[in-house]
Amino acid sequence: MPVRPPVLDPPFNVVRASHVELGVRDLARSQAFYVDCLGLLVTDETADALYLRGVEERNHHSIILRKTREPEAVALGFKLASEEDIDRAAAWFTARNLPVAFPDLPHQARTLRTADTFGMPLDFYFKMDQAPSMLQRYAAYQGARIQRIDHVNCFTPDVQVSYDFYAELGFRLTEYTETEDVPARLWAVWMHRKGNVHDLAFTNGHGPRLHHVGMWTAGALDILHICDVMATSGYLANMERGPGRHGISNAFFLYVRDPDGHRVELFTSDYLTVDPDLEPIRWTLGDPQRQTLWGHPAPKSWFEEGTAFAGVPMRAPELIARPVVAR
Ligand SMILES: [Fe+2]
Repeated sequence: MPVRPPVLDPPFNVVRASHVELGVRDLARSQAFYVDCLGLLVTDETADALYLRGVEERNHHSIILRKTREPEAVALGFKLASEEDIDRAAAWFTARNLPVAFPDLPHQARTLRTADTFGMPLDFYFKMDQAPSMLQRYAAYQGARIQRIDHVNCFTPDVQVSYDFYAELGFRLTEYTETEDVPARLWAVWMHRKGNVHDLAFTNGHGPRLHHVGMWTAGALDILHICDVMATSGYLANMERGPGRHGISNAFFLYVRDPDGHRVELFTSDYLTVDPDLEPIRWTLGDPQRQTLWGHPAPKSWFEEGTAFAGVPMRAPELIARPVVAR
């Protein structure tokens, strides 16, 4: 069976997906997109980086934009439950001959930088600088009125291998897509730690690559509003897919591309998944309601384009299976 029971007593305690660091070529152009258009708040600004967060986030940052020569993803950040969990995580990765380093990162206390079995860079930390909540400073709400980071979604060359790896770390499966082969093969998985549909998802494709970072809005009207804003402020071509309602996760969504091609999903209204006996929902690859409940397929770019991790070689997927594609 490709799907296994959840690991309820993992080797260290991951609380949630917490932040991503993205390399961008022009910080001013990125600031116009993420801050002036999408409405993220700037917590800190340096000569080569912008630290951004949503209105309810107390953590110093959920998106770091750093000036680089080429677009790239640096690492995916996950918050742990304690300092001791960092030590437990370091021991776990060391025992598997995976990299273990403790780089000094601004605004974060001790951070373990490691990588999964495909080399995808992961940062695990417990403490980050805290910022005042802006949740009830309604006058500061702009653009999509983004509240917080929700999840990261990545391409992997082998969904089964990535699923097995993160399942062992306590990431619990909520929904999955299989091919119609006999036996069926995993094509995509959605896994969580925090109690909604996902903190981390994987899709079959050239990888590892970051597919998108998902940012939570309070409701579908915030997403409809940002469609109107983008369509009338020079960002029409940056709207890649949606708005719509996913079959998987039931969430309302819009996918946008930033000036460097990094993909951001505005996402809201999925559901509670804390029950330890929650049965994962199975979808088949050819189901027209899998991607979008209303039946609209995603564009080709959505299945093919993503952000490479800096210095991490990619592999072609083992599994060749065609999803439903719009154009
Ligand atoms: Fe997503």
